[in-house]
Amino acid sequence: MNGQLASFIAGPGGGVSGEIRVPGDKSISHRAVMLGAIAQGITEVNGFLEGEDCLATLAAFEAMGVRVERPADRLIIHGVGLRGLKAPSAALDLGNSGTGMRLLAGLLCGQEFDSVLVGDESLMRRPMDRIGGPLRRMGARIRTRDGRPPIEITGRRALQGVAHELDVPSAQVKSAILLAGLYASGRTLIVEPTPTRDHTERMLAAFGVPVERDGAKISIRGPAMLQGCRIDVPGDFSSAAFFMVAGLIAGAAPLLIRGVGVNPTRTGLLEILRLMGADIRLLAPRDCGGEPVADLEVRPGPLRGIAVPHELVASAIDEFPVLFAAAAVAEGETVVTGAAELRVKESDRIAVMAEGLQRVGVHAEVLPDGMRIRGGAVGGGVVESRGDHRIAMAFAVLAARAIEPVLIRDVRHVATSFPGFAATARGAGLLLGEEG
Ligand code: S3P
Repeated sequence: MNGQLASFIAGPGGGVSGEIRVPGDKSISHRAVMLGAIAQGITEVNGFLEGEDCLATLAAFEAMGVRVERPADRLIIHGVGLRGLKAPSAALDLGNSGTGMRLLAGLLCGQEFDSVLVGDESLMRRPMDRIGGPLRRMGARIRTRDGRPPIEITGRRALQGVAHELDVPSAQVKSAILLAGLYASGRTLIVEPTPTRDHTERMLAAFGVPVERDGAKISIRGPAMLQGCRIDVPGDFSSAAFFMVAGLIAGAAPLLIRGVGVNPTRTGLLEILRLMGADIRLLAPRDCGGEPVADLEVRPGPLRGIAVPHELVASAIDEFPVLFAAAAVAEGETVVTGAAELRVKESDRIAVMAEGLQRVGVHAEVLPDGMRIRGGAVGGGVVESRGDHRIAMAFAVLAARAIEPVLIRDVRHVATSFPGFAATARGAGLLLGEEG
């Protein structure tokens, strides 16, 4: 798909069925580049997500002297070792990517050089004190502008391990601290009251770093050496999510989504949809380099509204745009609360989704930390995605159930996480046109 594309014209109608694959996992692809870069020796990454976010992370490491070869669908990273990164000659631009910026900030606190991190308009508005606070307690010198980027990091600091309890459930904060912890002396311990995605912990172990886990506690000892390895990136559950919902609400026959990562810290949507009455089966479960993978079989069928249990929010955090779309056509009312974090994602996903749903005639009431949606008929209209990739894709799915076409504006950021979305959507049976 063209990264500069302006709009989608979606639906109505289309019957989803058949077999698809989705691109590689974004969270795992970012981490593979970061850990491969500071490992000793070569790391081979298969199934790397060639999305703009992960490419921005890759470019940042190339700017710090890491050589990466890119044969088709693979990365060969020539690791420079824990202390081998070089000072970049300019600010590092992480584009739209919160993961890229926050994780990299943790890693850069341990370097011998100064660095500056910037991003696009959306990223420059996102909160960074959540990493600044704990990293400063480790001895880092890190400055933000009123808690937002640019992030300025002063190098040559001796970091010490700390014990830190997360006050927001955030894998990005946890990972930033762990990456700084690789450079710190002594033990870095994180207490995580609500579990969040644990890809960093799993991948550190694959690179030979002992990670201790004891209930809500995660710890590593620094300084730690990483040994290059082979990483097989599974399909991104968060990308598969759009097709899980499409298969349920616009299915003509079962849809099979092959090779999807089903790490239990990511699959909250599956549980929520099942509570709503969905029939989604995990076939051929297997292990892919320490990450669980399966094929997902989605059978079309009606959904009913529910109150989403709070304990499922963190493990479904990226899937709320498409869950709101599912709720819009479910029978009865769906209530989401305890999800205030949605307000500080690539957009304010509560406000922007509610606005879009209302534009197509869905009864959506904004709550401070969530939304109340009454399922029913969906009309056509013009929806603004405000440059948020997941909002654009959520409306592309919902439009299958609309009675008129839906014009979805500002969809250029779909390529940050899901290059080729429109082609995959058409292959699965959705009606989706693109306008430049
Ligand atoms: C991510 C963590 C989550 C998620 C983001 C990816 C990661 O963010 O929303 O898309 O790769 O660690 P938070 O840590 O802010 O919850």
